[in-house]
Amino acid sequence: MSGLSIRDVSIRYGKRVVIRDLTLPDLPAGQVTVLAGPNAAGKSTLLRAVAQLGPHAGRIMLDDADLARLPGPQRARLVGFMPQSLPSGSSLIVLESIIAALRAAGETPAAQADAQAMAVLDRLGIGALALNPLDQLSGGQRQLVSLAQAIVRNPRLLLLDEPTSALDLARQVRLLAELRRLAAEGRVVVAVLHDLALAAQWADRIVVLHQGGIHSDGPPEKVLTPAMLAEVYGVEARVERCSRGNLTILIDRELAPVP
Ligand SMILES: Nc1ncnc2c1ncn2[C@@H]1O[C@H](COP(=O)(O)OP(=O)(O)O)[C@@H](O)[C@H]1O
Ligand SMILES: [Mg+2]
Repeated sequence: MSGLSIRDVSIRYGKRVVIRDLTLPDLPAGQVTVLAGPNAAGKSTLLRAVAQLGPHAGRIMLDDADLARLPGPQRARLVGFMPQSLPSGSSLIVLESIIAALRAAGETPAAQADAQAMAVLDRLGIGALALNPLDQLSGGQRQLVSLAQAIVRNPRLLLLDEPTSALDLARQVRLLAELRRLAAEGRVVVAVLHDLALAAQWADRIVVLHQGGIHSDGPPEKVLTPAMLAEVYGVEARVERCSRGNLTILIDRELAPVP
């Protein structure tokens, strides 16, 4: 098997089961998969389990390697994780934080680490921020730095939790185009997104989590339906093609208040 495989995964917090016996058809390299679903559906929980940042039952394999059994530095080389928000309170400058992320996968000679970190910042258009303190960045700048930390080790698997939530419109599109390039270079890319119209335009596949399992899984035009939007999100909505042929979603009303 090549790519990411998720089999019989269950995750609980105490007695509360958040993900129940979840199995996904394999996610191949080269594709961008969007993980969607309402608030508290377990998207972050699942992504963190794949990154081995939380306990889980079941098997999560990347290219036939069981991620739970890999030694830390080897896993750090293979898996890049961008959390929903960067922890605050850091005294590092941006460049140091990228180098620290690089070193999690093993020692790199200083000159090479500097060059590699700068190359990633330039790739994301934030080279000018290299010497800024992390704690003085705007939300959107922090999000791009967080992406830089996730990709600097050239991971085979890239996991991103709401990577566009703080970005302006141009940067959202730039980030999604970058995710497509990262996938095309031979990576498995999984991103949690709330904006389903953006997902429709950029994702190869959308997986909708609901009530601890998978509600739907497939190409955007198959997954994005008024029935799914009613059942999962509790809204009456239309899914229509715009003049360019892209899917758009028009929400008409809430069907029942979501608790
Ligand atoms: N560390 C935790 N301890 C206990 N419950 C948690 C923890 N993290 C998340 N949860 C609960 O698990 C559920 C799923 O959360 P999460 O995965 O963050 O959802 P999503 O990312 O889809 O919004 C929520 O009900 C949340 O309250
Ligand atoms: Mg979340």
